[in-house]
Amino acid sequence: MSEPVQVSDPAGLVARGAALDAADELAPLRELFALNEGSVYLDGNSLGALPRHVPERVRDVMVRQWGELGIRSWTESGWWTAPERMGDRIAPLVGAAPGQIVVGDSTSVNVFKAVVAAVRLAGQDRASGRGPGSGQDRGSGQGPGSDEGRTEVLVDATTFPTDGYIARSAARMTGCRIVSLAPAELPAAIGPRTAAVLVNHVDFRTGRLHDLPGITAAAHEAGALAVWDLCHSAGALPVGLDAHGVDLAVGCTYKFLNGGPGSPAFLYVAERHQARFDSPLPGWNAHADPFAMADGFEAADGAVRGRVGTPDILSMLALDAALDVWADVRIADVRAKSLALTDFFLECVEAYAPPGRVSSPTPVAHAERGSQVALRCPEAPAVMDELIARGVVGDLRRPDLLRFGFTPLYVGFADAERAARVLGEVLAAVPGQVAPGRR
Ligand SMILES: Cc1ncc(COP(=O)(O)O)c(C=O)c1O
Repeated sequence: MSEPVQVSDPAGLVARGAALDAADELAPLRELFALNEGSVYLDGNSLGALPRHVPERVRDVMVRQWGELGIRSWTESGWWTAPERMGDRIAPLVGAAPGQIVVGDSTSVNVFKAVVAAVRLAGQDRASGRGPGSGQDRGSGQGPGSDEGRTEVLVDATTFPTDGYIARSAARMTGCRIVSLAPAELPAAIGPRTAAVLVNHVDFRTGRLHDLPGITAAAHEAGALAVWDLCHSAGALPVGLDAHGVDLAVGCTYKFLNGGPGSPAFLYVAERHQARFDSPLPGWNAHADPFAMADGFEAADGAVRGRVGTPDILSMLALDAALDVWADVRIADVRAKSLALTDFFLECVEAYAPPGRVSSPTPVAHAERGSQVALRCPEAPAVMDELIARGVVGDLRRPDLLRFGFTPLYVGFADAERAARVLGEVLAAVPGQVAPGRR
């Protein structure tokens, strides 16, 4: 690394950042989080920051609920029903009515449950002539009279890898084949052979927001089911699961929901599908009467049938505490601030970065942008190391993507300005080439 370089601010971006923070109604929420004031944390799209009150609550779970009450806590502290209670707490953040979400397992495991269950539901729909979107019988084309069979699972080709790996295995187990396509190509490709479509709501690399209403409607039009991975949208933007008729969805809680490292994921099963939701992992927690210890499996009613085994109580109740920060927060306000933050960051990068050194694959259009900005830069590994050394914490997706996540609950406009300014300084100091596509 060469000598430190300072970039100038002729556009008054420092002052603009301060003014935007002063006018920001969500700004006081930052106090709820444990942040290192010497640095700018732009990695909440990977691991959300710690809400300050969580350690004390986890301490209570350990010392009082576990240490003093012991096994009585399964009932007296509500441990047994925590998965569905946490689901109901997450529900309003993703536009779901109560009773449709359970929390537990990892996102990967929930992708498995959702894809296999979707293929099974599509098969039942075909046999009964019913359509997945409405719960109503379909008139023609998709029912018993159409015999091609629903043997394809369409997968977002830009998906986070785990979804693709799991979907391929789920497809093998259900006698389906995988068709991998860019999300924009999915609506035209969904047809009478499609059982289910699995899509990431926001691309983890570029931050592109995919068309959940459009792709879901296209799936239903063809008699298929839509399964969405909300890891990068839950807690970041309005999802509208019920409003858009999504069939099944999964998501993690350790990014924008700040549940902590490895906090349990969630599974949404639309109410209209619950009675026929046939989990490929029907563990005893999904049984209608788990403590009957019966030989035969009889599925519980509701989203509970998406549960598998004993819930991870310590993580689950850390998440419970973390969700308290949402008490008075409207997701629409979070979205408005997220877009303003990412707009401002992009403007600052344009002002501070030496010409041609970075280019952004993140869409400019608000309707297509999640809550992160990615910058392509041939020297990305060295640049991210130096950014972190200078207190700007983003992350790297090899080979050449710098990722910056914007969590509106605790990231401010001055943070965005500072991150871009430090990036400009680092780029000026790191010898480099002009980024691909920029001259
Ligand atoms: C879109 C997406 N899906 C799935 C995962 C993996 O989830 P898990 O590790 O909980 O299985 C991630 C992790 O970052 C992700 O970003």
